[in-house]
Amino acid sequence: MRKKIAIIGTGYVGLTAGICLASLGHQVICVDKIKNKINNLKNGILPIYEPGLDQYLKKYKTNIEFTQNLPKAVSKSEIIFIAVGTPSKKDKSIDLSYIKQATKEIAKQLNAYKIIVNKSTVPVGTGNWTKKEIKKYYKGDFSVVSNPEFLREGSAIKDFLEPDRIVIGAEDKKAHEIMLDIYSKIHAPKIITDIKSAELIKYAANAFLATKISFINEIANICDRLDADVQKVAQGIGYDKRIGKYFLNAGIGYGGSCFPKDIDGLVSISNKHKYTFKLLNAVIEVNKNQQKIFIKKINSILKKIKGNTVCVWGLAFKANTDDVRKSPSIEIIKNLQRTGYKIRVYDPVATANAKKELLNKNITFCKNPYEAAKNADILALVTDWPEFSKMDMIKVKKIMHHPYLLDGRNQFEPEEMKKLGFYYEGIGRK
Ligand code: UGA
Repeated sequence: MRKKIAIIGTGYVGLTAGICLASLGHQVICVDKIKNKINNLKNGILPIYEPGLDQYLKKYKTNIEFTQNLPKAVSKSEIIFIAVGTPSKKDKSIDLSYIKQATKEIAKQLNAYKIIVNKSTVPVGTGNWTKKEIKKYYKGDFSVVSNPEFLREGSAIKDFLEPDRIVIGAEDKKAHEIMLDIYSKIHAPKIITDIKSAELIKYAANAFLATKISFINEIANICDRLDADVQKVAQGIGYDKRIGKYFLNAGIGYGGSCFPKDIDGLVSISNKHKYTFKLLNAVIEVNKNQQKIFIKKINSILKKIKGNTVCVWGLAFKANTDDVRKSPSIEIIKNLQRTGYKIRVYDPVATANAKKELLNKNITFCKNPYEAAKNADILALVTDWPEFSKMDMIKVKKIMHHPYLLDGRNQFEPEEMKKLGFYYEGIGRK
């Protein structure tokens, strides 16, 4: 049945959820405090690069509106999704100030039974806190639900509408039923559980995926020493259904706005409850080391050939996004800048965001990958944009000063590159 839904926060999660819920036929109001963002959204302009999302907004615009007016959105809706940011604090614990502010504003506005759904990634126990907070301002009936989101940037629409599962943490029947109704058009297993377990599922999922990445990165480092091929090892273990073939791509470590923050978050939650999550501490350590290994390789090659110009392909933390938050590329470039190398860099969509993060020192932002490779002593591929693996590498080799190719995402076949005359090094490739 068509529901009236308010979404507080128009970041990746809030905006995708809002547009996708509108596509399912619900009447959605998206709220954000930032005037410019709301004005742009009213004109169909998205604040993020997410393939297909602008067309979806256009297609379902009659089911969705954008406003800065939270009280009005709350009073007009039956279900209120909180999808505001939960950044890391300096001490790596989770900053709940946006959640707290949104909850208070919602609570003050309640006038009838409504469901308040937490979609943001929040520490275990936040749902219970939300209940208590709302009770301070509203004495009537309401429900609190945890409904974590598992979408990935770059494939957000598909992940939202065709998820592997939907998790609903709710502690009363009325809320269960309404939540199931919202997602009735989505055919996926629906896990109904208590609020705390739902909150923990989100952290456990991201932590497990990050562990898989750090695991395969360690295997890659052993492959480098043994002259074995990590791609084949990943394939060989990935066919085992108990292991699974996804998230076994070795590289320069995970980045983005979620894994680094959430893994730190779970460690911090564990510490708070006097439990040392040894495995996750190692996952973080391995991840940091992966970038160091890559930088070390660049340094040793440049020292050997007495070069100083590095071409970097990719700025985004992964392909199909303009997001550079905790992007390994940004960290690597900062380090290379400190050493004093000249950097020539290209990314299909993330350049504008990267310019805000990087010092304008010894760096040239190029219009295409060839321009970036011109006169470079080494080419470092750091983001897995599919277009990089389709480049005319004969042409690339010709325009480079030295033909060193350091493939941080294992996008090329070592033998092919060697045949073309490159000195090729991947991550854990033979
Ligand atoms: C991640 C999760 O995959 C989503 O399920 C979750 O909803 C989201 O965080 C979140 O918590 O909001 P996302 O950060 O968009 O999604 O990106 P991923 O595709 O998971 O990639 C994360 C990082 O791991 C990237 O830097 C990527 O390059 C790296 N990665 C991924 C690898 O190095 N190897 C792999 O095999 C896979």
